[in-house]
Amino acid sequence: MLIKNTKSNYGLIAILLHWTMAILLIALLILGLYMVQLPISLDKLKLYGWHKEYGLLALLLVLMRIIWRFSNTTPLLSIPWWEKVAARSAHWIFYILMFAMPITGWLMTSAAGLPVSFFGWFVLPDLITADANLMNLFTEIHKWLGYGLIALLIIHITAALKHHFINRDDILRRMI
Ligand code: HEM
Ligand code: HEM
Repeated sequence: MLIKNTKSNYGLIAILLHWTMAILLIALLILGLYMVQLPISLDKLKLYGWHKEYGLLALLLVLMRIIWRFSNTTPLLSIPWWEKVAARSAHWIFYILMFAMPITGWLMTSAAGLPVSFFGWFVLPDLITADANLMNLFTEIHKWLGYGLIALLIIHITAALKHHFINRDDILRRMI
């Protein structure tokens, strides 16, 4: 398998980034939804800490991924034009969400007056000064973007499975 993408196939780096991030984002969604409904406790705080650190790892990975995407060709899609527009739009909305989720999380934490640490290696600068109204606003935005990400993911998985099992083309196979 080639490192870079070609006009007909995804390369190793794009595939590794796709699946590492897919697992990480699905875990962050589940962890986020689970931790918010726990009663306040040390365990809850520990899970919030993990969520923030792995959420920042997602930000680092999506930065690498967008650079890779722009320095590479994207495999062609031989499907009807409307499906191509839908697929490419979904991919760009995914990129917007992959940036917006960690950034709103970071903004929310800064607005709460709390530090954001990256696995204890260093502490990130506050993006804004502490403000309870902004904290509530970014918490709401973060939550609704999360719901949007789940909805898009369901559509994306359904489309991938439809291509594999109904159309029987190579769209899913070339991402594996
Ligand atoms: C791609 C990365 C991320 C995803 C997919 C994600 C997803 C989620 C989800 C689904 C929730 C539950 C929302 C709710 O039901 O109220 C949540 C909550 C939360 N997230 Fe994230 N998150 C990400 C990154 C981050 C980052 C980087 C931070 C902070 C640095 C962060 C901080 C928080 C906090 C503090 C909450 C709890 C909010 C509350 O108590 O209501 N998240 N996240
Ligand atoms: C949160 C999880 C996921 C995100 C954010 C995501 C995002 C993306 C993005 C942005 C692309 C375009 C290529 C790229 O830039 O890497 C893509 C392609 C693809 N994804 Fe996902 N994906 C996720 C999970 C999944 C899952 C679980 C499946 C399989 C069931 C899947 C199947 C595919 C396939 C088959 C392609 C290739 C489409 C093509 O050839 O254009 N993805 N995905």
